Amino acid sequence: MPRTQPNIVITGTPGVGKTSHCELLAANTVLKHLSINQVVKDRGCHDGWDAEFKSWIVDEEKLLDSLETEVPNGGYIIDWHACDLFPESWIDLVVVLRTDSTKLYDRLKARNYPEKKLQENLDSEIMEVLLEEAREGFDADVVVELRSDEVGDLQSNVERIEAWIEAWKKDNSGKED
Ligand SMILES: Nc1ncnc2c1ncn2[C@@H]1O[C@H](COP(=O)(O)OP(=O)(O)OP(=O)(O)O)[C@@H](O)[C@H]1O
Ligand SMILES: [Mg+2]
Repeated sequence: MPRTQPNIVITGTPGVGKTSHCELLAANTVLKHLSINQVVKDRGCHDGWDAEFKSWIVDEEKLLDSLETEVPNGGYIIDWHACDLFPESWIDLVVVLRTDSTKLYDRLKARNYPEKKLQENLDSEIMEVLLEEAREGFDADVVVELRSDEVGDLQSNVERIEAWIEAWKKDNSGKED
């Protein structure tokens, strides 16, 4: 059955502001914030804890199996630092957030990230790893790159995504006939 609400992935390097964007979007729309981190943890979609990187070792197959009964129905804002694991057919928009590297450094430093993890994340942001992943995995018109340097960016990005959701709904209404 066609979706009546879109699915949006908010992705980017750790610390760019994915969760901040998802929370504000979920508060302003009927879409639900789906934190993949939370799903991985709550539903055990992992092969244990990586002590060095302080993160779960995600079992992508288990994760997708767990999401496939809900996500394809639509209405989710997916919060995750990867996007290429999601089937293209599930996703209507991929937002890649980008942050200036000095700002990102400060945000990650404030979280007391281990030096190695901090450096890897900064390199990843500078090398545009997530943007590349999104462009390789999805059609060009599905991927949008937005700045997340200032608090004002958060506000304007969310307004822009809300306008996109409204346009998507208009374009997709009546398609179920
Ligand atoms: N556009 C922005 N301007 C200023 N500060 C921001 C912005 N976006 C996020 N922040 C701040 O940066 C920090 C990280 O934000 P957030 O937790 O939303 O990032 P994230 O991408 O979800 O990180 P992770 O991948 O680790 O979950 C928070 O302290 C948040 O308040
Ligand atoms: Mg987050």
